[in-house]
Amino acid sequence: MTRSDFSTPTTVSEPSSKSATPAPFNNPRVGRPALRTVSMTGVGSYVPPQILTNADLERLVETSDEWITSRTGIRERRVAAPGEATSDLACEAARRALSAAGLTASDIDLIIVATITPDMQFPSTACLVQQKLGARRAAAFDIQAACSGYVYALDIASHFVSSHTYDTVLIIGAEKMSAFIDWTDRNTCVLFGDGAGAAIVQHRPHSHGLITTCLGANGDDATLLELPAGGSARPASNDTVNQRLHFLRMDGKETFRKAVAAMVAAGQEALARSHLTIQDIRCIIPHQANHRIMSAVAERLGARPDQIFTNVERYGNTSAASVGIGLDEAVREGRIQTGDYVLLVVFGAGLTWGSALIRW
Ligand code: UT7
Repeated sequence: MTRSDFSTPTTVSEPSSKSATPAPFNNPRVGRPALRTVSMTGVGSYVPPQILTNADLERLVETSDEWITSRTGIRERRVAAPGEATSDLACEAARRALSAAGLTASDIDLIIVATITPDMQFPSTACLVQQKLGARRAAAFDIQAACSGYVYALDIASHFVSSHTYDTVLIIGAEKMSAFIDWTDRNTCVLFGDGAGAAIVQHRPHSHGLITTCLGANGDDATLLELPAGGSARPASNDTVNQRLHFLRMDGKETFRKAVAAMVAAGQEALARSHLTIQDIRCIIPHQANHRIMSAVAERLGARPDQIFTNVERYGNTSAASVGIGLDEAVREGRIQTGDYVLLVVFGAGLTWGSALIRW
């Protein structure tokens, strides 16, 4: 597991003698603190208004509200409008995060969008978001870590900020899962929903902010959860379309098992690196895949039920948007106050996993 620790700023000194060869770039690190602390100065989220209930799904596939609720905890999920793309969901969440931080689009230096449901193969969804927001100064790129994407993006953003490369980074986890779900497959179509969660990542003097992040991956299990065709390995063809290979596929049982183990390990790693115990954490926001997974993770971490934030019953699994939406709602509901410790733990296709420990 790779780790990043942002709590201890260090300093690099000026070179002792002038170099004979001038530096090719203006290196912002020279003469400045090498690392600065990193804070999340604004969060926001957006879910589309259309609600798809378990009763609606009973009319689509052989399922029941009882099965879905008891196995997953999901009662309803949101579905984007046909003309609404992932970038549209992302922009709405981004505007709310900017507003919470008291910033405008022109303040953004970098946009990182985490998604497995991009508007198209290329250009990146981040570039489309940059254009729609009017964030003309911002560099932009996508990352892909499935349901772990928000924590991966947060980790990447924190390095840009702590190293003085950028002052203001917008991260967004955004998904239009409904566009990649096989609506004839009851194993998967009941599980997912659309939405976006965003955050502004900056340095705030005297603020603790992000304490540590832990990331992990295991490509050995890449086929447990995948969208098999449409890439360079299996380009789109009549055959791939006929075999329904452009939709998400999942081995649910095995994914469940791996998810619990990985999220527990990631949570424990973040606590150990921060010298905190689970009792110190005010709010734990696990990836919202399934209430049984969240209960198992909480139990193994030794957490009380009231420490766990859940909204899976209303939104289902929104992949990279999941913990971003959760964090925004937890803040708005007053579940997180200034000074509270917050733990995000995530898991997704790849396989990928991670955690982030934040002092709010
Ligand atoms: O976000 C990325 C990570 N993803 C996850 O973490 C998801 C992890 N997996 C899960 O959450 C669970 O494995 C599921 C919710 C997907 C499935 O729950 P399960 O308790 O593992 O059920 P199962 O796969 O063992 O299926 C049990 C039965 C099967 O029938 P048979 O073969 O025993 O006759 C399924 O065909 O339930 C059947 N089934 C359904 N029945 C009614 C599967 N889906 C449905 C459904 N409605 N929607």
